[in-house]
Amino acid sequence: MEQYIIKGGSPLHGEVSIGGAKNAALGILAAAIMTDETVTIENVPNVRDTRVLLQAIEGIGAKVKYVYNNSVQINGGSICDMNVDYEYIKKIRASYYLLGALLGKYKCSQVALPGGCNIGSRPIDQHIKGFRALGAEVDISHGMIKTSAKKLVGSHVYFDVVSVGATINLMMAACMAEGETTLENAAKEPHIVDVANFLNAMGANIKGAGTDVIRIKGVNRLHGTTYSIIPDQIEAGTFMFAAAATKGDIVVKDVIPKHLESLSAKLLEVGCEVVEGDDWVRVVGKGGLKPTNVKTLPYPGFPTDMQPQMAVVLALAGGSSMVTESIFENRFKYVDELNRMGSKIKVEGNTAYIEGVELLTGAPLSAPDLRAGAALVIAALAAEGISEIEDIEYIQRGYEDFDGKLRSLGAVIERADSERDAQKFKLKIG
Ligand code: UD1
Repeated sequence: MEQYIIKGGSPLHGEVSIGGAKNAALGILAAAIMTDETVTIENVPNVRDTRVLLQAIEGIGAKVKYVYNNSVQINGGSICDMNVDYEYIKKIRASYYLLGALLGKYKCSQVALPGGCNIGSRPIDQHIKGFRALGAEVDISHGMIKTSAKKLVGSHVYFDVVSVGATINLMMAACMAEGETTLENAAKEPHIVDVANFLNAMGANIKGAGTDVIRIKGVNRLHGTTYSIIPDQIEAGTFMFAAAATKGDIVVKDVIPKHLESLSAKLLEVGCEVVEGDDWVRVVGKGGLKPTNVKTLPYPGFPTDMQPQMAVVLALAGGSSMVTESIFENRFKYVDELNRMGSKIKVEGNTAYIEGVELLTGAPLSAPDLRAGAALVIAALAAEGISEIEDIEYIQRGYEDFDGKLRSLGAVIERADSERDAQKFKLKIG
């Protein structure tokens, strides 16, 4: 079992380049199968989630070729199977984007039904409601969700909750429906805009992505294109918060600062210096962090995927803070681990009450999920002494070369794949 061994206590310094957005990539890779022509997608983060989705795409018969580490060619002309197995969906929920993509292109799809996950129950009722509104029959049986339609017809869909996944799935299905579809109360995340831009580059007609009303005029066919994915807002934010927690000075490069505004605003509130350039943001963590309150909200609000990293920063601030989670029901699993490092956090309902402490201390830890795992890495980098973090495969789902990038900023971190390696590294740094 791989683990990170981290010796904390040194401020992180330097520049780090941010990769393509994982959550945009998942939508775009699925959408790429909607044409029979070859699509080249650049700036694809080479992380576990994108690799598994590409396997699922190969599994239905499409051709997938890595041109370089971060550049992938997909050809959906040879798809022969409309059925995406549980094997993929249990590893990565976003395989369900193939429901919308296959339904749009072939008017039928079959994907194993995703269950809940570590951050809570995750219904897909809004996806289903949308497919039905376009005229598809949706049937759930034997753990599979099946969609089929003689033809898809544009419609008006009002989402009862703001859902990134449902917005992307419906954009894909509707862009090859007859006539016009309006999606209301749509999600506005940067990756929604990126998926829409990608579909438009393939010949779709989608307007309004990035606002809460998206209008889609159906087209008969999509064509090949070359497209580069936007930078990852959450990877960037994770390094920005690592600068704050370690009292470091980091320039995150190759980002879109506008996408990071809610994060920069919170860093300023806690007393960090934040400087923005055209495609970079510099964060200087000054120590003497101030407390504040945060509530997670759909974009442009504070992202739920940065909630655990924010809690780590506030755990080190002087005073009382509150973190309220309004998107997912079970996203405080990391709190027990942080408290084992000396933080003082109490969770009641969907709110974490944080009494800041001066120092965290290294401990053996276990990553409960992707973003919480990244937050524990930040905590370990800020803490005094050595931490060992297990279950890092969660972290590898969404961060490419996380330990390598942290080492380039001066972090003392090693990935060990055996107890012997872990002991050797601990002796070296201890
Ligand atoms: C996406 C992101 C995830 C991020 C989340 C919220 C991807 C691959 N993942 O997840 O990293 O944390 O957005 O920004 O992009 N809901 C329903 N019914 C539905 C769909 C969603 O009730 O049919 C609820 C969910 O339970 C949740 C909320 O809506 O409470 C938001 O979920 P959603 O935006 O759909 O999240 P994901 O697309 O799964």
